[in-house]
Amino acid sequence: MALLVLASASGSPGVTTTALGLALVWHRPVVLVDADPVGGSALLAGYFKGTLVDNDAMVTLVMAQRDGRLAEALPHALLTIPDTPVSILPGPKSHAQAGSLTELWAALAYELRGLDQTGLDVIVDLGRLGMVHSALPLLEAADLALLVTRSSLPAIAAARQWAADLAATTADGTGAAGLASLVVGAGRPYSSAEVGKVLATSVLESIAWDPRAAQVFSEGDAPVAGSWGRRDELVRSYRATAAAITARIASERVSLAPARAR
Ligand SMILES: Nc1ncnc2c1ncn2[C@@H]1O[C@H](COP(=O)(O)OP(=O)(O)OP(=O)(O)O)[C@@H](O)[C@H]1O
Ligand SMILES: [Mg+2]
Repeated sequence: MALLVLASASGSPGVTTTALGLALVWHRPVVLVDADPVGGSALLAGYFKGTLVDNDAMVTLVMAQRDGRLAEALPHALLTIPDTPVSILPGPKSHAQAGSLTELWAALAYELRGLDQTGLDVIVDLGRLGMVHSALPLLEAADLALLVTRSSLPAIAAARQWAADLAATTADGTGAAGLASLVVGAGRPYSSAEVGKVLATSVLESIAWDPRAAQVFSEGDAPVAGSWGRRDELVRSYRATAAAITARIASERVSLAPARAR
């Protein structure tokens, strides 16, 4: 159904945390791609606390691409998370390694879109926009790009120009098929509607503000007994956002189908 890309303009608004949260509540099997060129595998060190064996996925895939075996190698490069619908493609280990992945991202964009036919969706953590060695081919291939931002004035000011740039590429067909903003912590102080108005984008739900619960995803903290699960506000906001994303992509695919063969 979808290739979804999350990215930020500045600061650390919660792209990695939100991408993981969305993946964990996703309604279908999903591949979570760490494409942040900063490197360091924030997911493996954070949520997984180093418990997943690092499989050197990027090196394997670069070599497979050179041999024309990328499609065959991709499923084996994914780390599965037991008892969840999520498998992970660990990203570059370092910024230096990210520099050698430019060609791979272009080829992977094609292969990741193809996973749709096997019933898999893809969520990409692109990291911060404007970085050297960003995985731009994934952004360009996305069904929906989400510009993740907090609701403070500095955050909105930083996101504004990026929102305009992304909207221009969506409009001229060189960027993601759709664009929306996703506010982490709406009402601190500006509402989602106010953020969307300034950024001139639609706004998809909003992610609840809960530093303690977020640490479960970003640092692998143990959930506090009794405060975790379906009723938790943060998880509820992940679910609502996941549903809104699905609906948005479905409606855009219908409206774009005749005009834009993707
Ligand atoms: N919904 C939330 N409520 C409160 N705090 C949050 C929320 N989501 C994430 N955080 C916190 O924000 C901090 C940054 O999160 P995260 O690493 O996901 O940001 P990022 O945008 O990926 O940053 P970077 O660009 O540095 O990779 C973490 O401490 C995380 O726990
Ligand atoms: Mg991150």
